[in-house]
Amino acid sequence: MALLLWLGSQLSTYWNGISILGIFLTVFTLLFDFMKRRKKWNHYPPGPTSLPFIGTMLHIDFRNPHLSFNQLRKKFGNVFHLQNCWTNVVVLNGYKTVKEALVHRSEDFADRPYTPVYEHLGYGSKSEGIAIARYGHVWKELRKFTLSTLRNFGMGKKSLEKRVTEEAGFLCSAVGSEEGRPFDPRFLVNNAVCNVICTTIYGERFDYGDKTFKRLLHLFEKFLNEETGFLPQLLNVVPILLRIPGVPQKVFRGQKEFMDFIDVLVHKHMESWNPAHIRDFTDAFLKEMQKGKVAEENGFNYNNLRLVTADLFGAGSETTSTTLRWAFLYMLLHPEIQNKVQAEIDKVIGRERSPTMEDQVNMPYTNAVIHEVQRYGDVIPLGLPHMTYRDIEFQGFFIPKGTTVITNLTSVLKDEAVWEKPNQFYPEHFLDVNGQFVKREAFMPFSAGRRVCLGEQLARMELFIFFTTLLQKFTFVLPEDQPRPREDGYFAFSRSPYPYLLRAVPR
Ligand code: HEM
Ligand SMILES: *[C@@H]1O[C@H](CO)[C@@H](O)[C@H](O)[C@H]1NC(C)=O
Repeated sequence: MALLLWLGSQLSTYWNGISILGIFLTVFTLLFDFMKRRKKWNHYPPGPTSLPFIGTMLHIDFRNPHLSFNQLRKKFGNVFHLQNCWTNVVVLNGYKTVKEALVHRSEDFADRPYTPVYEHLGYGSKSEGIAIARYGHVWKELRKFTLSTLRNFGMGKKSLEKRVTEEAGFLCSAVGSEEGRPFDPRFLVNNAVCNVICTTIYGERFDYGDKTFKRLLHLFEKFLNEETGFLPQLLNVVPILLRIPGVPQKVFRGQKEFMDFIDVLVHKHMESWNPAHIRDFTDAFLKEMQKGKVAEENGFNYNNLRLVTADLFGAGSETTSTTLRWAFLYMLLHPEIQNKVQAEIDKVIGRERSPTMEDQVNMPYTNAVIHEVQRYGDVIPLGLPHMTYRDIEFQGFFIPKGTTVITNLTSVLKDEAVWEKPNQFYPEHFLDVNGQFVKREAFMPFSAGRRVCLGEQLARMELFIFFTTLLQKFTFVLPEDQPRPREDGYFAFSRSPYPYLLRAVPR
């Protein structure tokens, strides 16, 4: 009996020990979480209540984030905060607010949040690519180098324009070979746009229908799909989960395959590299890498070559081709607008000569239509995430250094205080009473400020040349048996039209 009693008391102290430890741990974690989420600042922007660990993430439907955000803006105003687990996020809405941040306070907002999920792709200090690189001298050097190199290979100059024009020709013959049958323009348009980037970076274009190319597009799509959704977001804010063996490989399989693909292209390049004869962007980057330690310090290393080219690919192809698909969709939906564009093409260029960028100034209506496609198409609704570079005061709020900032470009492109008909396709937004083209300050599909899209000039050139070349040769019509295509888009990284079929009738 005494033995039993003794055993019992031993057991209960043992259990007490466990529960005391348990309680201690729970209190400790809750306290830690509380400290992490606590806002110790005055005048921090308002926002929804944040829960332990997950912050405000349950307030957002990650498949349809814009819907949830609409309600938050109504409740909290143009500057509100969110909490992604332990990451502080501030959302900016409306032309006035976004412009003040991106343009007038450009450096304050010029940083980017660190993105641990990319580490498995070789992302690290001094190899961060451009688009998600932290603000600082490595980003500055690379951006400068990239802009000037693309320019030397024709960005803003004749030679790249020639390339775009040539590709527009290939695209026209491919569209022509559909012989007026209904088809989905997506693949051909993607192919053409990707080829422009490919020739610039790798000096290589793919024939339409090429198997490798189909694979590349497929991988790229997977890449983008792996960006959205709850799991990737969670991994980004709780990067420790990435340490679980197999997790990054499983969640980001497509991204890894995409990078492997880029490796193949770069390696092929290195084999035939000749410093006396620089063929393209990759060659120029390799040459820079030869300059040794200083170059290395400035971010010119192999990992970064892969990441920078992946960035140009990533930032430059999907965006432009999606915009073109919106353009053709709007032409299907608004045949009278298409007629007016064609009339202007006939008047200024005629039916034979290829369009050039010099024609643009003489074609206010077409120019207005393309701008309206970008405004109404709203291809990158939330831009890329920014991060505050220092503690700042902004519109009466205090936002600490290191806060992730989302600039809502939709709220600028469709701001009711700015546009006459924000939710309609209305090219007159960009025309004065005399039919002359007018610039609008709230036209920000490329964002603004220090981090403004690096490929803006190239993108504008592609949009103008591809669009006018196709409409010069074809009229787009809706196939008889097809329903009217949907005008709303779906949201992945970009906002794209739902797949649709069109007929391209030769003119
Ligand atoms: C219609 C086509 C395009 C649209 C709508 C677009 C839009 C954007 C937007 C909204 C950003 C984010 C800017 C910010 O952080 O505030 C961006 C960044 C960027 N874009 Fe584009 N873009 C397009 C085409 C291109 C092309 C063709 C290229 C490449 C040749 C390109 C390269 C980049 C790069 C490298 C960045 C990152 C810049 C940085 O962080 O410093 N984009 N773009
Ligand atoms: C961005 O603005 C649009 C239009 O005002 C709105 O529908 C959307 O919910 C906003 N998104 C965010 C993140 O605030």
